[in-house]
Amino acid sequence: MANFAVLTTLLNDKDCIFGDRLNHASVIDGSRYSKAQFKRYRRNDISALEKNIMRINAQNKWIVSEGVFSMDGEIAPLPQLFNLVKKYQCKLIIDDAHGLGVLGEGGRGSIKYYQLPVKNVSILIGTFGKSFGTMGAFVAGNGLLIETLIQFARGYIYTTALPPAIASATYTSLRLIQEENWRREHLRLLIKGFHQGSQDLNLPISPSITPIQTIIVGDTKKTLEVAQWLKQKGILVGCIRPPTVPHNTARLRINLTVHHTKHDVDFLLETLSKIWNEIH
Ligand SMILES: Cc1ncc(COP(=O)(O)O)c(C=O)c1O
Repeated sequence: MANFAVLTTLLNDKDCIFGDRLNHASVIDGSRYSKAQFKRYRRNDISALEKNIMRINAQNKWIVSEGVFSMDGEIAPLPQLFNLVKKYQCKLIIDDAHGLGVLGEGGRGSIKYYQLPVKNVSILIGTFGKSFGTMGAFVAGNGLLIETLIQFARGYIYTTALPPAIASATYTSLRLIQEENWRREHLRLLIKGFHQGSQDLNLPISPSITPIQTIIVGDTKKTLEVAQWLKQKGILVGCIRPPTVPHNTARLRINLTVHHTKHDVDFLLETLSKIWNEIH
């Protein structure tokens, strides 16, 4: 709703949105329903994006990207996006649903991870449904922008606000995220252990350094079988398949959390290695 509200409220028919092809559905829907032209670029293809930006005539050019891509956990090439923003006076919207809480000092997300100036981002959007462990979302930007959303964003105005209990829990999550660095350190060690173990077993994992780890199996049926087999062993792993991801890229999506232990990761790897040999 936050992505949808921002994109449909602020952009007009003289604008153009340049969106990464793998942006989340809520960003794509907001882009489609806004009055702006909508151009998609291939995942992280900065040169295609630049060509499009040069080619298209629009009053405002908005680049919209996830900070961390939800389907494989990889971090967007924010330094290159920041360069384009500067070079062509574009505006940048970052949905950092999966970066906030886990990346950068104090869990400030993917922008902090790259040590980039947050002032170059026109709008930062985040959900509370991931590392915060609650629900809802926020939009951050300058005062005029926020006031405009409060007055005009239909997706914000015509729906009940967050229940106070959720708002309060989110506030506590924010404090924990800012103060308890050990959680990120623990996650970092789990991720490192998972990578080392996967390499030893020759598992084709994505190069993600975030808690979202994926193993591309390719075939949908096989991926489902592996996910179901893991579930029988007590391991819950997402099975992401078309149309959510392109054909022949069905994958297991593993989410490591601060509540996992080294033992959990070892058990996952051991169990995966058994089934992996069987399906190949
Ligand atoms: C990048 C991104 N943005 C937005 C959302 C929506 O978040 P929520 O489910 O908390 O509404 C998700 C996840 O579902 C996401 O991955």
